[in-house]
Amino acid sequence: MIVRKAEEADAQGIFDVETESFSVPWSLQAITRELANPNLTMYYVLADEDGTIAGYAGLWRVLDEGQITNIALKQQYRRQGYGELLLRVLMEAAWEDGCSDIFLEVRVSNIGALHLYRKLGYQVLSVRKNYYSEPEEDAYVMDCKKENYQWITNSYKKDE
Ligand SMILES: CC(C)(COP(=O)(O)OP(=O)(O)OC[C@H]1O[C@@H](n2cnc3c(N)ncnc32)[C@H](O)[C@@H]1OP(=O)(O)O)[C@@H](O)C(=O)NCCC(=O)NCCS
Repeated sequence: MIVRKAEEADAQGIFDVETESFSVPWSLQAITRELANPNLTMYYVLADEDGTIAGYAGLWRVLDEGQITNIALKQQYRRQGYGELLLRVLMEAAWEDGCSDIFLEVRVSNIGALHLYRKLGYQVLSVRKNYYSEPEEDAYVMDCKKENYQWITNSYKKDE
């Protein structure tokens, strides 16, 4: 498995991940538009050996802020650390590119995603009532400031 920058040719593979992951998926057209706009967006994909897109993550850049648009993996690739890897690659690329704060929304019942976000340093800022549909649900608005990001520390330095 590798994580690499998304290319326009990945739109169909990303769309397949979307339809498997969300009740209201982004359209192929919307994904294509996102990928065609690398000045404002950053997208990474997780791809397996034969090139199948197993997952993706992306954000919008607005000055020194990032807004995560989505992160998702196909079912069979979940719970193996790949979501964390993808999110770390995306966030570290955003820090490198000058972001200092990254925002996202998440369903309040999405225990897995919430665990991942908290692990990497996100905190809840507010609740958006009925933000989601199918089913209707509130969203947590979360952010992670660069200084709160939980870098992976070097395990060889455990004794220091
Ligand atoms: C959310 C998602 C991207 C997480 O990716 P993943 O590869 O399954 O997560 P990882 O294996 O990297 O796990 C990262 C951490 O979250 C925890 N976690 C992941 N899924 C979990 C779940 N369903 N329940 C509890 N904890 C979970 C893991 O245990 C791990 O924490 P740990 O290291 O403390 O044990 C993935 O589940 C997914 O695609 N979900 C559907 C789409 C979605 O909801 N996206 C988020 C939209 S806001």
